[in-house]
This record gives sequence, C-alpha cells and structure tokens, in this order.
Amino acid sequence: MASSVTNAGESFSSPNWGTHFVAVESVQELAQKKPNDIPERYIRSEDERPSSTPLPSLLTVPVIDMEKLLLASDNHERQKEMDILSKACIEWGFFQVVNHGIPHSLIDRMRGVANEFFGLSFEEKQKYAPQPGDAQGYGNMFVVDEKQKLDWGDLMALALMPKKLVNLALWPTTPSDYRNTLERYSTHVEKVAQIILSLFAENLQLRSDYFKGKFGEDSMMTMRMNLYPPCPRPDLVLGLSPHSDGSAITLLLQDDQVEGLHVRKNNEWIPIQPTPYALVINIGDLIEVMTNGRYKSIEHRAMTNKEKTRLSIATFYHPSLDEEVAPANNLVDEKNPSLYKKFKHQEYIHYYMSKQLNGKKSLADFAKICE
Ligand code: OGA
Ligand code: NI
Repeated sequence: MASSVTNAGESFSSPNWGTHFVAVESVQELAQKKPNDIPERYIRSEDERPSSTPLPSLLTVPVIDMEKLLLASDNHERQKEMDILSKACIEWGFFQVVNHGIPHSLIDRMRGVANEFFGLSFEEKQKYAPQPGDAQGYGNMFVVDEKQKLDWGDLMALALMPKKLVNLALWPTTPSDYRNTLERYSTHVEKVAQIILSLFAENLQLRSDYFKGKFGEDSMMTMRMNLYPPCPRPDLVLGLSPHSDGSAITLLLQDDQVEGLHVRKNNEWIPIQPTPYALVINIGDLIEVMTNGRYKSIEHRAMTNKEKTRLSIATFYHPSLDEEVAPANNLVDEKNPSLYKKFKHQEYIHYYMSKQLNGKKSLADFAKICE
C-alpha cells in the first residue's frame, strides 16, 4: 500500500518498497557516548577485516579529463582520452572524472549541507527516519537480519528524481538551503551522467543516443550521504560492506581529506586516493546487464578511520522504474550469448533493497544466466 505524506502543501504518494530493515543504533551516537567501545556486531570475521588484506599501492584508478572529451579540438587527443575511458570501464569499472563542470563552490556547499544535517541532535535527525516499508530517510539500511554484521556508518538516503518519488517530508529544513542545494547539485550530476552514458555508447559502438533513449523524463536518481564516524579500531570494522551498486552508474563525491574507498581488482582491495573535487564514477549492475557484461559493476567497500570523520555523497543514476532492462541487441551474438535475463527495473530494485549488501550476490542471483 502506498503511504501519503504532506509537506508545505505538497503531497507525496510513496511507492512501498517492501523493505523490512531492522532498526539499529546510530553509529554517530554510539561513537560519541562510548568512544572506546565497539559492540560485537560491528566486529568482522578475520577474512573480512581490512587488516587481513595488505594493500598494494602501485595501482591507481584511471583519471579522466572530461574537458578533453568535450572540448578537445585535436581529434587525436580526444581519441586518446576515449581509449583511457574504455579501458577504465573494461578493466576497472571505476574511474575518477576531473573538469566535469560542476562548480567547486556547489560541491563545497553540497558537502556543507550534508555535514550540517549530520551535526544536528539525534532527536532532530530522527524526525527523518524512514517510514516502514520505505527506503528513504535517515538511519541505516540493508540490515535485514538480527544477526548480520553491522557497518560503522550512518546514512541519509533520498530520491531526487523523478518528482513522483521525491518525499519532501524527509528533506531536512535545517540547514535552510538543504533542499535548494540538493536540487542544484542533482541537475548538474544528471548532466554529467548523461554525458558519460553517451561516451559509453560511443565506445561500445552503440547508437550515441542508445542510453539516452532509456534515461528519459522518468529517469530515477537517488542520493546516499554516508557519514563514517571515527572508530577506535578501524582494523576490525567496515564502514560499508562490500557491494556493487544497483544503479546504472554511480557518481560519488569522496571525502577530499580522508581516504576510505576500496575497489576490488584481481581479488585485492585497492584504495582510491581522493582527488580534490573529482567525481568517482562506477559502473552499476544495470549497465553490466545492458552491456551484456562488457562493462562490469565492481565490488567496493568503505573503511573507517581512527581520528577523522569521513563523509561521502553517492548519487545513483537509474532508468525509469518501468524500463525493461536487458543486454543491448548489438552486444549479443553467437559468440557473445546473452548473460542476463531481461527484467523490469523496479523488480530488481525491490530485490536489491530486500537483501543485505553482499558483493555481487544480488545481481548474480537475480539476473545472471548460469552457463
Ligand atoms: C555507496 C558507496 C562509498 C563511500 O554509497 O554505495 O559505495 O566511499 N560509498 O562511502
Ligand atoms: Ni556503492
């Protein structure tokens, strides 16, 4: 059943996501009240702990200069950058983008409003807790089992597009420019997302508007602001469990000061060094399906830190919930049989939201055709 909330005269009819998240304590509260205590449920088994995997530091995620792709008068230079992008998509599923055109002052303010919200009292933030069955609001998500290990972080999740999914009752009124900042930022991010998707189409030799056709008026965009408080034993916990994103692509503002994002490559966890004002972009499960596995969604996780709080802001870009998701016909032939079944986007999102974050398990169980 849909629930209805009214805010400042605007009404909203929420689709019920059918989520059953188990309520857990705010990590920010926990870290403040008992700074030296880590409850058992946060302590990972040996094989999951950050400390158990030594990190090679030689590999770095490719950095793409968007200006070179859009403005380069020299075709050779542009093609070189397109090749770097193609390689990044095939070999990493992750890349950083600089010169993306989002004003730095807007990025600063975006981080500012997120930080100011997390800085409010717990009682104030609790007013934005998710409604039962919903997947928007302040708290924690993906906790579906009383015994599951917990992540050392709190989050605020909001749908930004399309309008019918936007629940303004959950948009904080403090700071007062929260709403306006999110709106301005999401308009810019959508432009970047569309450009990136058209470059993907070009590199895959699909029609340049192949993805554009699938990401129309009703495209979905959601945002997750993650706050990872300092943890006395970062070697024992995870800020965010290993997962691939259920999106088409994700555009992430890492914390510029505090490292913490790791991507999995060749079975090793590689840190992504923060590049000031860069967007970290990664392939989500839906692009993996649409490209018939040519581009793969990659597992990633977040670490915590002993001294510093870390903030990250992830924007997830999706087609319309009504869209049928399937491998592009041009990427399926005798040599490359379809690796995924066709599905309705909404059904996958429901499935993804009903499970705990667990590597690429959701995509594998839901859509992968077993050879
Ligand atoms: C996410 C995510 C990484 C980070 O929110 O899906 O992967 O660095 N975040 O917080
Ligand atoms: Ni993610």
